[in-house]
Amino acid sequence: MATTNREPVTRVAVLIPTYNERESLPGVVARVRAAVASADVLVLDDNSPDGTGRLADELAAADPQVHVLHRPGKAGLGRAYLAGFDWALSAGYDAVVEMDADGSHQPEQLPALLAALADADLVIGSRWIRGGAVRNWPVRRKVLSVGANVYTKVLLGMHVNDATAGYRAYRSSALRVIGLDSVESQGYCFQVDLTVRAVRAGLRVVEVPITFVEREVGASKMGGDVIREALTNVTTWGVRHRARQARDLVRSVRDRKRT
Ligand code: GDD
Ligand code: MN
Repeated sequence: MATTNREPVTRVAVLIPTYNERESLPGVVARVRAAVASADVLVLDDNSPDGTGRLADELAAADPQVHVLHRPGKAGLGRAYLAGFDWALSAGYDAVVEMDADGSHQPEQLPALLAALADADLVIGSRWIRGGAVRNWPVRRKVLSVGANVYTKVLLGMHVNDATAGYRAYRSSALRVIGLDSVESQGYCFQVDLTVRAVRAGLRVVEVPITFVEREVGASKMGGDVIREALTNVTTWGVRHRARQARDLVRSVRDRKRT
């Protein structure tokens, strides 16, 4: 069991990945700064055609606690976060937060996530526990999210109810032990990937209820490719996990016979 020394979290970096989010970004950044005044913001922009990157530069120029990482082109949410984690770990932050740029993750709920980090290595803002909710999602998206979480839970045998959630707070110490170098997930299954790694590393994962509010402007980047990658990866991880369990069972039966 990995043990991490849970020191008080003071330096927090809030990572916000963007691809065509010019209408939402300024409001979200302002709300983060108001909700947790000590937190720094890092926008991870994949060269958005709508000019979100330039807008982020303007926000950074006006506020020393706002930073921007420009990436050459759209390479997926997971890749953007990995670059952001590198940045935050090198800069010496105690904790790293993931937050969507479209207002779905309410900055006003960030203090609750950070408070829970006092006794956790990873805090997941969960839609699918008591007190959690989703506002303005079509039935289709709810079914997809609940289905993906049930599938993940059953196949991977994890006690996490919202493993695909994108509103999270990690202790930097946790990010250092979960093996970021070998993460291959490009899209949204990155979230499941890191949840599995955290659980397998013996880290303490805590879910805190959030209200996810569907965006009012712009469009979701969730497409068929994102769903296909998630389904393929989760199935592969699940089959491997079950094979490992079967192997361990066979071994333990054999060892018992010997003694
Ligand atoms: N830099 C970068 N590169 N950002 C991206 C990319 C990319 O390739 N793709 C998406 N994003 C950014 C968006 O601009 C937004 O800020 C955030 O990632 C989430 O994208 P959405 O497209 O709004 O996601 P969603 O609302 O459909 O999905 C939500 O639910 C998923 C499943 O539960 C998010 O909370 C996901 O994080 C979550 O996995
Ligand atoms: Mn969204």
